[in-house]
Amino acid sequence: MRLQAKAAVITGGGSGIGAAAAEVFAREGAKVVIADLNEEKLSQTVEDLLSKGFWAYGINCDVSSEEDVEKLILQTVQKCGKLDVIFNNAGTILPKPLEQVDGDEWDRLFQINVKSMYLTTKFAISHLKKNKGAIINMASMTGVVGQQYNAAYSATKGAIIALTKTMAIDYAPYGVRVNCISPAGVRTPLLDTWLKQQENPVKASEAQDRSHMLGRTADSEEIARVALFLASEDASFVTGENIVCDGGAALGYAAGPKPEWSRVPI
Ligand SMILES: NC(=O)c1ccc[n+]([C@@H]2O[C@H](COP(=O)([O-])OP(=O)(O)OC[C@H]3O[C@@H](n4cnc5c(N)ncnc54)[C@H](O)[C@@H]3O)[C@@H](O)[C@H]2O)c1
Repeated sequence: MRLQAKAAVITGGGSGIGAAAAEVFAREGAKVVIADLNEEKLSQTVEDLLSKGFWAYGINCDVSSEEDVEKLILQTVQKCGKLDVIFNNAGTILPKPLEQVDGDEWDRLFQINVKSMYLTTKFAISHLKKNKGAIINMASMTGVVGQQYNAAYSATKGAIIALTKTMAIDYAPYGVRVNCISPAGVRTPLLDTWLKQQENPVKASEAQDRSHMLGRTADSEEIARVALFLASEDASFVTGENIVCDGGAALGYAAGPKPEWSRVPI
């Protein structure tokens, strides 16, 4: 088991990629503390893991709140006696043209998607240093190549990639590895929200599938397994990396004349 006797915090673990990661990590022997703002989704995920015989504990937490994150780390260390891994996965989107984003929305988005990573690090880094732990930050391909009408979100994800690299430099002397993950489309409630906000959600969904060279979006577990790799000793010499797991979406520009199935109409 790749995370035997490890204690991991997964933010946004009530849904989508975070919930999948909670199960993948627990299956590999980790004690998993799940943090989420949504109490209902949080307890569903925790109950599901407990019913399968895994170790799981839920903490209702707004990752943008300094007070909540301080409590999250404190309670995790009290419950588990240690902390080895943080998967900073919680995030939200704001898909609209930049000029329509108001200042409060912009600030809230950055607080949830980016400030949260500073906060977990602030309170957890002393524990991670003790165990030569790992931090995994959730970025996105939008932070690498941008996305139409998603400028604010893309800016948060670009910031996360830069943050990850600098954190990796700063904490490497303590043996703490810091990496991030950039998926393209992953079939989760977050992606469904984005699709519903498109002019033609059905066409947008088909186009989304076709925009990946593999012809489909990812399952949450496919991304969770990348987080598992980064959390585990399998990645013991990997730090400061942005792991692109995009089903070949970024290759689109270089693929030459495309067959009908791979043409992106948006
Ligand atoms: N789904 C995709 O296509 C995709 C692609 C690239 C990156 N991502 C990133 O992956 C991460 C997870 O996304 P998902 O698709 O699983 O989304 P999701 O909406 O299914 O899950 C996100 C979870 O985060 C929680 N959350 C939101 N705000 C929070 C806050 N302030 N405090 C605590 N919890 C909060 C939600 O309650 C939810 O349970 C996000 O950072 C997202 O930007 C997703």
